[in-house]
Amino acid sequence: MSRETPLHFRPPGRADGAAIHQLVERIGTLDRNSCYLYLLLSAEFTDTCVVAEAEGGLLGFATGLRPPRRPASIFLWQVGVDPAGQGRGLGKRLVRALLEAPGARDATVLETTIAPSNRASRALFQAIARERGAEITASEYFREDHFPPGHEAEALFRIAPIR
Ligand SMILES: CC(C)(COP(=O)(O)OP(=O)(O)OC[C@H]1O[C@@H](n2cnc3c(N)ncnc32)[C@H](O)[C@@H]1OP(=O)(O)O)[C@@H](O)C(=O)NCCC(=O)NCCS
Repeated sequence: MSRETPLHFRPPGRADGAAIHQLVERIGTLDRNSCYLYLLLSAEFTDTCVVAEAEGGLLGFATGLRPPRRPASIFLWQVGVDPAGQGRGLGKRLVRALLEAPGARDATVLETTIAPSNRASRALFQAIARERGAEITASEYFREDHFPPGHEAEALFRIAPIR
């Protein structure tokens, strides 16, 4: 991907679920969920998800949901950029696009979970907090022993206010 590759940010549709699943496979480091899960997100959670499309296909995606018990929050579940496009600002553009998605634009808190070893993810959310002058707080969420063996803990990061 060159810096000039034109990108189109849009909500996913049913036709994108399988391509998001393949992108997750290409990225390699994300939890691999079933294709059905990405189809479901692309059919029922389109207002809180976004894909970045280039001429050759999808280059990135971000999936989110509104936690029912924390109505001010948008919970960003997975964000991923094709390995060929990483480190060029696309992750930040995806998070910004997600925050402006129809189902997220009234949220005042951005939440996500980050594993301790994921430096890129931490840097991404620190950059988003910095550009909005927001504070980041971290708390325990899923401990290592909540997962099957071999998965790191995932702490909950709350970034607020995001606007
Ligand atoms: C995390 C991810 C989405 C970031 O997307 P990206 O397009 O590479 O990130 P950006 O280019 O927008 O960079 C965002 C910030 O993170 C920093 N960054 C990016 N990759 C980094 C790395 N590997 N190590 C440290 N910092 C990194 C950038 O310097 C930038 O910070 P800055 O604005 O202060 O300069 C991408 O690396 C990815 O898909 N990783 C694999 C999947 C994953 O772990 N997703 C997150 C958990 S769901």
